[in-house]
Amino acid sequence: MKKVGVAILGLGVVGGGTYKILKEHRDFYRANHGIDITVEGVLEINRERALALGVEEEKIASNIAEICSNPEVDIVIEVMGGVEPAKTFVLSALNAGKSVVTSNKELYCKYSHVLEKVAKKNNCGLFYEASCVGGVPVIRALLDNLQGNKITSLIGIINGTTNYILTKMSSAGAAYKDVLKEAQKLGYAEADPTADVEGYDASYKLSILSSIAFHTKVPYTEIYREGITEVSAEDISYGNRLGYTLKLLAIGKCGGNGIEVRVHPAFVKKGHPLAGVNDSYNAVYISGDSVEDVMLYGRGAGALPTGSAIVGDVIYCATHNGFNYSTFENSETAAPSTKFVKNFESSYYLRLAAADKAGVLSKVTAIFSKYGISMAEVKQYTEVNNGEVPLILITHTTYENNIKKAVTDVNSTNVAKVVSVIRAI
Ligand code: HSE
Repeated sequence: MKKVGVAILGLGVVGGGTYKILKEHRDFYRANHGIDITVEGVLEINRERALALGVEEEKIASNIAEICSNPEVDIVIEVMGGVEPAKTFVLSALNAGKSVVTSNKELYCKYSHVLEKVAKKNNCGLFYEASCVGGVPVIRALLDNLQGNKITSLIGIINGTTNYILTKMSSAGAAYKDVLKEAQKLGYAEADPTADVEGYDASYKLSILSSIAFHTKVPYTEIYREGITEVSAEDISYGNRLGYTLKLLAIGKCGGNGIEVRVHPAFVKKGHPLAGVNDSYNAVYISGDSVEDVMLYGRGAGALPTGSAIVGDVIYCATHNGFNYSTFENSETAAPSTKFVKNFESSYYLRLAAADKAGVLSKVTAIFSKYGISMAEVKQYTEVNNGEVPLILITHTTYENNIKKAVTDVNSTNVAKVVSVIRAI
């Protein structure tokens, strides 16, 4: 039977889950894959944590050199998170001839060009299924199963923390700050929630996914990014009343004008498969020219779901000859020929505070019509605030720049002010 030794760098939530899966399923993998996977080393600063998981004392390494020089270790699993020291450790492992499986989206997003070069030089595998959308096998689907397609778009709910917060804001009508506090108490949000709520986490994942999908490097710095911190319970409620649900979407499109990549809150029409993805669940909705539409749904985080993705990579690495690298020139920046669409097209939800008197609506709609923006829905509500009423507009698809111009013009009138603008799909 083929023996496969692994080492785990970091025994936090994901490392612990991975260790548990490998231990509990050892006989299952022996029986079904003909491979005997054993944990030959761990690197964990907190020895007590390692011992509590059942790691034998002699398998706890004191430094990365011990892991790299251990001939029993074939594959190094990096689940530390963050760029350093993870990058140094991964490069050391690759230079020592070990294949690497990582769940580290920030590291892979920012440095895949460096890691891949070293992996190729040493004829090692570099696997990163767990870096995006936890247990949902979207990377392998894009790398393998969907290769027969030109992928035209992928739209994802790829951050569980923000999806949990938006779902609770929607169901309880609660303010962002209150729901965030509750999410932190329950362990759904980090003490410092910036990476999740400001959309950085989703943009790292979108960079990785769209690079694979569109066969060209899509650096995260090209991604338009807006988080959920400014979202109000009022807009969620007005959107709900019009049949929309608010999500933090990661959108990647590839068409005749180039590549469009953005992360921002967006209203999703109820009935769209993504509208039903609630709480901390994730999903990616992929459209290809042959397959049409595919949606992958599941747990985007957590010890066992992310461990599932890691162990899947370990088994894939151990049972396949040769390694897959990027289909494109993987460099830090995009290829000079790649065009990024910045003035993208979308539908928009706008909430205006308007004077409730004759002629206001026609003045407002005249401004939108001046920029060629067509209305799909217009709804005035009766709640009066400082003599003004909420006027909700949903536009047909139009250019972002046209919306910006129209908003400036509306705000220069004395009959209405734009309170919020939210994109919609
Ligand atoms: N913090 C991420 C999320 C999970 O909330 O989805 C790990 O990527």
